[in-house]
Amino acid sequence: MLPLVLPALGNSDNAAHMTQPLTILGIESSCDDTAAAIVRGVPGEAAVISSIIAGQSELHAPYGGVVPEIAARAHAEKLDSCVSKALEVADTGISEVDAIAVTSGPGLIGGVVSGVMLAKGLSAGSGIPLIGINHLAGHALTPRLTDGMHFPYLMLLVSGGHCQFLLVRGPTEFKRLGGTIDDAPGEAFDKVARLLALPQPGGPSVELQAKSGDPKRFRLPRPLLDRPGCDLSFSGLKTAVLRTRDKVIAEHGGIPQQDRADICASFQAAVSDVLAEKTRRALKILSEETNMPLSLAVAGGVAANQALRTALMDVCAEFECSFSAPPLTLCTDNAAMIAYAGIEKFSLGQTDDMTLSARPRWPLDQTSPAMIGSGKKGAKA
Ligand code: KG4
Ligand code: ZN
Repeated sequence: MLPLVLPALGNSDNAAHMTQPLTILGIESSCDDTAAAIVRGVPGEAAVISSIIAGQSELHAPYGGVVPEIAARAHAEKLDSCVSKALEVADTGISEVDAIAVTSGPGLIGGVVSGVMLAKGLSAGSGIPLIGINHLAGHALTPRLTDGMHFPYLMLLVSGGHCQFLLVRGPTEFKRLGGTIDDAPGEAFDKVARLLALPQPGGPSVELQAKSGDPKRFRLPRPLLDRPGCDLSFSGLKTAVLRTRDKVIAEHGGIPQQDRADICASFQAAVSDVLAEKTRRALKILSEETNMPLSLAVAGGVAANQALRTALMDVCAEFECSFSAPPLTLCTDNAAMIAYAGIEKFSLGQTDDMTLSARPRWPLDQTSPAMIGSGKKGAKA
């Protein structure tokens, strides 16, 4: 249980015009990472004081994907200790916390409910304001935490569960310019690794192989490049890799090492080409909308890929656009981004009450049509 020292009710003033640094407790449990963090500061200038992440990959590994029931149970078991640890590492008592920010969607419902229930309990028991955060807003606002990036900017979110271009106009103003119509790119990397008997997670294994491969050896498709807009598709590319692998096996009775490396390099080049071209299109849209200098930020596990980063930096050079890729610990799922999004919302005076509920589907841009597909890590927003 949490070693809570409860403060008097209503320890925080209305935050609407607050300029004093805020101390926010963030809680994240929407997928397969249980996380809690303390972030302190003001919008555009904040620091991560503590960030605790309890991953679950070992629990899910035997099943080849995230099992929602296992994830929900693990969150329920780990949340208390993650919050305690985040407070302890930050040397902060709960009474010093100005607000509790919790992921209230989108994600796997069991995990989101666990986080929301804990946050509500803490808030009810302490009188500390509660703020429900959209997980994707957490990712999208991270460049403001790491680089103090100014609005508007373009965010490319690429992970095992997400894939979208977001125009970030303000703390709660997002426009989705496009996204995947089937799989997320991380899923494709993982699947390709499985096809080639490489270890999981697939991204780093495929990238390592690709270093000694020829990206032009196999001609793989560049899905949806022939269509206007910023939508993406990765499932056909996966199937093309499967066919290529089967052809190699038919010819050689197995997969020679050089062929494996060439398949990885060719696949990685296809993913990078598609993401780079769609980024080019998204930056064109952004440049038409604003007279300000352009900025691109990238987040999600796939953002660790060096070939992709290089391709995106080349596109940015064409547009004289600044490029930011947060450190990997803040690119992938974490609670610091949720706490930071809490700073932004609390500073606008936006808090929630005990009616806050978990939303498994919660698109950031309510005006965009719903995305198709549901990915290995649950519903895509
Ligand atoms: O953001 P993340 O840790 O978790 C979620 O999906 O929410 O992303 C994990 C994904 C995995 O699919 C993994 O294969 C991929 O990111 N990934 C990479 C690389 N490192 C991790 N993909 C390509 N290249 C990498 N270096
Ligand atoms: Zn995420």
